[in-house]
Amino acid sequence: MPLVPMRQILEEATKGGYGVGAFNVNNMEQIQAIMEAANETNSPVIIQASRGALQYSRMIYLKKLIEAAVEEYPHIPVAMHLDHGDSLETCMKAIDLGFTSVMIDGSLKDVEVEKDGKKKKEQVPREFEENVEITRKVVEVAHKYGVTVEGEVGCLGGIEDGHGIEDKEGKSLLTEKDLEEERKYSPFLTDPEEAERFVKETGVDALAVAIGTSHGAFKSNRKHPVTKEVLPPIIAVSRVKKIHERIPEVPLVMHGSSSVPQELVDIINECGGELKDTAGVPIEKIQEAIKYGVRKINVDTDSRLAMTGAIRKYLKENPSKFDPRDYLKPAREAMKKVYVERMIAFGQAGHAGDYKPLTLDDMKCLYSKMGK
Ligand code: G3H
Ligand code: 13P
Ligand code: ZN
Repeated sequence: MPLVPMRQILEEATKGGYGVGAFNVNNMEQIQAIMEAANETNSPVIIQASRGALQYSRMIYLKKLIEAAVEEYPHIPVAMHLDHGDSLETCMKAIDLGFTSVMIDGSLKDVEVEKDGKKKKEQVPREFEENVEITRKVVEVAHKYGVTVEGEVGCLGGIEDGHGIEDKEGKSLLTEKDLEEERKYSPFLTDPEEAERFVKETGVDALAVAIGTSHGAFKSNRKHPVTKEVLPPIIAVSRVKKIHERIPEVPLVMHGSSSVPQELVDIINECGGELKDTAGVPIEKIQEAIKYGVRKINVDTDSRLAMTGAIRKYLKENPSKFDPRDYLKPAREAMKKVYVERMIAFGQAGHAGDYKPLTLDDMKCLYSKMGK
């Protein structure tokens, strides 16, 4: 089966009322683990590569690995997606490589700031109109190739820098109500009215929303007042609901959705790692958000934790071994376990054979019929 346009995978998920994991990859073991998990659970799946992943894998290697994956499992619908594309040029590179979907992340822009006498690059929220303009251009081009486009409105927690959400005095917010209140003063969460306008003005196929998640392993500054243990980040499901009410036909995307399982953090720390206390996005919160239109759930960190933990454990227990296959096999198994668990939890399991996959050419015709 050739790669499938992501739009179809998400539309089918909308019909079925389930979510689909979008898993980041950089190497062969991750791709194999995702495909084994999808095969075992009979799941459609989204494989995604960031700009960093394309650079690391030198693009063509990743493309060929994905081609091998779809050839080995022809019954599994797979979309290949560019994660956090920063420009039309990057998106075009991915489209040329054969990706069936791209994200244009116009929510942030680079600015130069001076800190301690040194010039540094920093990311700040981009003006809404500018985000619309950049995204609309990508949509115009991508749809000509039948390629799906994901856009983003709002900024992930801590302005996408991997920190939890705090108020203006730096005090961490404790409840979902706090987070909703904070929106009155800050642009952290996606504004439902802006989300609706953004989709109308750009024609994106899927919309990433900021609802309290953030990238990486450290997503929260909340601490239990007595035990001082780190509490999970607050996820504003009420905000997802409000956005979904305005644009019920648009699949919503949750970035920063790793659950950072304690047992994976423990394995790393028991085997020489030094990860500080942390907590990820509770699976139940993701499942709640799926009820209100979240269809694509981005997970990268959990796979990184699983891989690193398995490698550390193997090498600690077998200090005389040095064949990479010896430790990459348990690493692949550990990642597969995470993927299987997520595919079942998000609801995509069992849905691989529900529909006849479309090609990019089919999608091209559909877009032109829709006038997009
Ligand atoms: O968006 C964040 C993803 O986890 C990708 O991370 O840019 O380090 O590949 P990366
Ligand atoms: P995590 O860091 O929570 O896995 O999020 C990954 C992501 O959002 C990729 O775009
Ligand atoms: Zn992301």
